[in-house]
Amino acid sequence: MAVASTSLACPHFSGLRRSSCPKLDSPPLSISTAQSFFQNLDSHLRLSSSSPRNKACRPVVAMAGSGKFFVGGNWKCNGTKESIGKLISDLNSAKLESDVDVVVAPPFIYIDQVKSSLTDRMEVSAQNCWIGKGGAFTGEISGEQLKDIGCKWVILGHSERRHIIGEDDEFIGKKAAYALGQGLGVIACIGELLQEREEGKTFDVCYKQLKAFADAVPSWDDVVIAYEPVWAIGTGKVATPQQAQEVHVAVRDWLIKNVSAEVASKTRIIYGGSVNGSNCADLAKQEDIDGFLVGGASLKGLVIS
Ligand code: PGA
Repeated sequence: MAVASTSLACPHFSGLRRSSCPKLDSPPLSISTAQSFFQNLDSHLRLSSSSPRNKACRPVVAMAGSGKFFVGGNWKCNGTKESIGKLISDLNSAKLESDVDVVVAPPFIYIDQVKSSLTDRMEVSAQNCWIGKGGAFTGEISGEQLKDIGCKWVILGHSERRHIIGEDDEFIGKKAAYALGQGLGVIACIGELLQEREEGKTFDVCYKQLKAFADAVPSWDDVVIAYEPVWAIGTGKVATPQQAQEVHVAVRDWLIKNVSAEVASKTRIIYGGSVNGSNCADLAKQEDIDGFLVGGASLKGLVIS
């Protein structure tokens, strides 16, 4: 079994604007890469606030909203009834601290199975939804149906939908507005292609995608922004903590300038793209990284090895 080590300093995640604090002399964490990311979430990230020395480092958060660290597992088009059942039982046995929101996004057809067997401690997201009310839209699933089956969230604008399926900014923005109107939370994905990064267009691409959401949504209250550089998704080529932080700061500044300081402070900006047990701690140390959207590593329990 492969074992990865990492160390984590200043492990407090209950707020968006974390106060800086001196490095703690934490021993390296031993992380079994064969276990579910979620199963070991607490030890990966040291989310616990119960230890006295962590308490000394609790954040000073001048913001409304929960500001909880947010971790989503995007299972994409993977799994069977059997393997998902196994993953759920792993998830149900995971010990999670209260200051983290955990959400899993199974394929549509397994949402009911997950809802009926997963502990209420975790919420369920869909990976997509239709742009409006249901009806004669073959193959689509509406926001109303997602609510009906117990979903709390929906991922919208994922790069696989943008670049493989061909969804454009405006279409995604409208989907977000409709989903919010149905009472769903939206995990709003943005991110640049490798070529766009190489051409120095990262911020422009992210701003354009953000603007499409901003133009459409009536409120940001139930929106989590997921910055997912396309070149990092499923490639094993994770953004460096500095690369991710730089974009997260730019996104927050964009919100300050174009929406409001309050929304910028309240809105969680999470990172996605090859996050795993070995790299999540260093990413999480960045002040503006408020959580993760995890693909492959969230499936660990699904992989029959
Ligand atoms: P990955 O996927 O963690 O496998 O890179 C992330 C995502 O697509 O949300």
